[in-house]
Amino acid sequence: MKALILSGGAGTRLRPITHTSAKQLVPVANKPVLFYGLEAVAAAGIVEVGIIVGETANEIEEAVGDGSRFGLKVTYIPQEAPLGLAHAVLIARDFLGADDFVMYLGDNFIVGGITELVDEFRTDRPDARILLTKVLDPSSFGVAELDAQGRVTALEEKPEHPKSDLALVGVYLFTPAVHKAVRAIEPSHRGELEITDALQWLIDTAHDVRSTTISGYWKDTGKVSDLLEVNRTVLESTEPLVEGTVDDASVIIGRVRIETGAQVRGSRIVGPAIIGADTVVSDAYIGPFTSLSEGCRVEDSEIEYSIVLRGSSITGVRRVEASLIGRDVEVVPAPRNPAAHRLVLGDHSKVQISS
Ligand code: DAU
Repeated sequence: MKALILSGGAGTRLRPITHTSAKQLVPVANKPVLFYGLEAVAAAGIVEVGIIVGETANEIEEAVGDGSRFGLKVTYIPQEAPLGLAHAVLIARDFLGADDFVMYLGDNFIVGGITELVDEFRTDRPDARILLTKVLDPSSFGVAELDAQGRVTALEEKPEHPKSDLALVGVYLFTPAVHKAVRAIEPSHRGELEITDALQWLIDTAHDVRSTTISGYWKDTGKVSDLLEVNRTVLESTEPLVEGTVDDASVIIGRVRIETGAQVRGSRIVGPAIIGADTVVSDAYIGPFTSLSEGCRVEDSEIEYSIVLRGSSITGVRRVEASLIGRDVEVVPAPRNPAAHRLVLGDHSKVQISS
């Protein structure tokens, strides 16, 4: 069994962060989302992994390397443009050969991993198995219809009028039967070769497509609100650890991880939270569900339920909440007079001002 991990694509909903970096590398509890997927694949006993890469190929390759750190053997498969999930299968044909495989979307996060699912597939081997979960907004996803016996009868990609509330989760199990399907379908109205169409082709040609409905935690981290929620969930099980320094004037409460070289002075940190390596926190309040990456500086400020990427500084600001702050960003108060907001924002930035 092999794995095909999709790490191409554009990441439009995470702009401006994704103007400069891959959405699969946005950190959750200071570790890229993609790494959780790689770990889940390795834990399921899979070694050979193909990673589909697009525009951000260099960055992904630099972060993952040859995969040996995860116990994996990684082959990179360049995709010239995000032409669809089924297109990714099409171009991975040589890598996949005659093996069964799990396709894993690099921006998906599945609590509890995929080991059980993969083991079950190894034993019962239907032509394909999809994962479903109930969602409140099915029109943002691929949507499945099941018959009374729970067999998949129809699939639709991001339907305007969804026929069920069962969304496709970004993990799919395939036998080589899928290769014929991805060759048989045509691009959709949005110009993509849809994996939902390939699955529909399998159903229409009397193949055995089964589904597993999961009720556990799953998120597509493509949106800021989802990313903050995944960060919250992961931080909840963080083991407290102090590798940096904390002075006597500081108070640390709950699950807080302070990484090597970090300094906490005169501050209050209420976990769960992570303070990244070489980050300085002084005269500040860091509230629950906050991840500060490495090399940040938070001074005379309050921040909670947020993710801050490396090298950013927040000084004299209260309070920052539910925010995703990119790399090397500076957040400072405006001078009192005139009382005005002064903004230098990248394309597609979003700012909410409380005054
Ligand atoms: O998250 C689950 C959803 O993922 C499913 O419910 C949908 O049926 C499925 O189409 C997909 O929808 P998204 O709109 O979330 O897909 P997105 O374009 O974000 O791509 C998912 C991942 O695959 C992401 O890591 C980028 C990568 N990708 C995407 C495309 C279209 C590629 O590597 N190549 C591609 O051509």
